[in-house]
Amino acid sequence: MIRLGVNIDHVATLRQARRTTYPSLVEAAAACEQAGAHGITIHLREDRRHIQDADVYTLRKTLKTRMNLELANTPEIVAIALDVKPDEVCMVPERREELTTEGGLDVAGQQKALLPVVAKLKAAGIAVSMFIAPDLRQVEASAAIGAPYIELHTGAYAEQTGVARAEELQRLIQAARHAHALGIKVNAGHGLNLENIVPILTIPHLDTLNIGHSIVCDALFIGLHEATRAMLAKLNAF
Ligand code: PXP
Repeated sequence: MIRLGVNIDHVATLRQARRTTYPSLVEAAAACEQAGAHGITIHLREDRRHIQDADVYTLRKTLKTRMNLELANTPEIVAIALDVKPDEVCMVPERREELTTEGGLDVAGQQKALLPVVAKLKAAGIAVSMFIAPDLRQVEASAAIGAPYIELHTGAYAEQTGVARAEELQRLIQAARHAHALGIKVNAGHGLNLENIVPILTIPHLDTLNIGHSIVCDALFIGLHEATRAMLAKLNAF
């Protein structure tokens, strides 16, 4: 069974657009969990454009499922993770000017900087994941720094069509196989929606799919509970 982590960042985006106290992230997370989500993902960005520090602390207390905290490798944010101790941390690249996390983390190029941080997070009992492009070199680098998980970036797959999309799916499949052979667990996410999800389910060894934007968008029309259920139905039908 492939598990679903719902990323609720964009519920916070809506709140921060007016700096109101609503919509409630606690209620949003609870709606996803009640619908059957296996975990809740949030990204505490350096620029705090959506999730705020207080959200991380509050959700840590209220979540009934797993908390997956996405973060860039900066001392300030890593210190918050070590304090909050989410179940999982996913290390992502971050640029202030980007609309969303645009590429995978260059683990191969940043091994020295990542190694001690991964060790610290693991020592705190947190499952650590590297958000990487489906590139065998990055899979190997993730293994070399002792990351127990990778999350494969499906953004390029989502953006492509036709042959290019099929080729990107093959890269995702190869990367997942390689990770599994190296003893790394495989998550995936970014840009996934009800229309493009089914081929993604053919990727072997998938543990969890982290999906946010499309579920929150669908929720405008059918509510978060139903939007989460609709995605779970796709996962379960496979
Ligand atoms: N996984 C990671 C590491 C991400 O950074 C994001 C976006 O915040 C997602 C999954 C979810 O992507 P989307 O919102 O496009 O579903």
